[in-house]
Amino acid sequence: MKGLILAGGAGSRLYPLTQVASKQLQPVYDKPMVYYPLTVLIASGIREFCLISTPHDLPRFRQLLSDGSQWGIAIEYREQPKPEGIAQAFLIAADFIGSDPVTLILGDNIFFGGDAFPRAFAEFQSGATIFAYRVHDPERYGVVEFDAEGRAVSLEEKPAQPRSNYAVPGVYLYDNDVVTIVRSLKPSSRGELEITDVNHEYLRRGTLQVQRLSRGTAWLDAGTSSSLHDASAYVQTIEKRQGTKLGCPEEAALYRGFLTLEQFETLVAGMPRCEYQDYLSGVATEVRRVGIQGA
Ligand code: TTP
Repeated sequence: MKGLILAGGAGSRLYPLTQVASKQLQPVYDKPMVYYPLTVLIASGIREFCLISTPHDLPRFRQLLSDGSQWGIAIEYREQPKPEGIAQAFLIAADFIGSDPVTLILGDNIFFGGDAFPRAFAEFQSGATIFAYRVHDPERYGVVEFDAEGRAVSLEEKPAQPRSNYAVPGVYLYDNDVVTIVRSLKPSSRGELEITDVNHEYLRRGTLQVQRLSRGTAWLDAGTSSSLHDASAYVQTIEKRQGTKLGCPEEAALYRGFLTLEQFETLVAGMPRCEYQDYLSGVATEVRRVGIQGA
């Protein structure tokens, strides 16, 4: 399965921070925001990525993430000249997707905990799999309604009167039909190719699976100054308490077997002396001592 990371958009709610760097490059505690969604996909076994951003911001992403080979993955880059909708990602990256299934993750969605994603990726065969997460303000998101058997029966984008408290977070898994589906979509009244319209089409075909994320998974969206601050505070709290870090692509690549321990150690040795390096050195020592399972 190929992986798309969508990291464009205006980021207007974070102005003036986004005058300095795009939203997905802002720090979330001790790492750039894009590290978190990237790490979720690496931990789920994705190895081939395409990152999509604005022509203005793309060079910074390239500088930060390079071609991915340092982490045993491959990253390509594509431009989205204007924010014309999340679903446009599938048209922009159609040549990269080829005939494979594909997952899309939004560059400002931050997840922690649970094994829902690795499991969903391992089980995925066809159709579409999306997720549902209980929130107190569903009207800000795509909202999914379930029937008594737990099957999804309706999907609405930012409804004024939500039919449930279940929002759809920014991780979507699709079979290759998604490219054809998006080609036939018309822009919505706000001028965007809507991801909810893609999910509607799979719902109509009877091939949409919606998996509820348990309360053991945290989903944070870092689109406003306040939620960005909350996300940083959350990461700091967990990292301090557990002595482990969240959102380290190096660590996920090691655990997933994309890097050997020797490659990982070389990578870490090349970093400047800092807390991040100390942490990863500790990971290497632990893995050398007890293997991946004990780490
Ligand atoms: P939003 O948070 O809805 O939009 P935004 O990032 O432009 O922020 P603001 O409303 O403050 O101006 O977008 C969700 C994510 O999807 C975010 O990571 C940006 C990304 N995105 C694109 O990359 N291209 C697009 O065309 C759209 C609509 C969103």
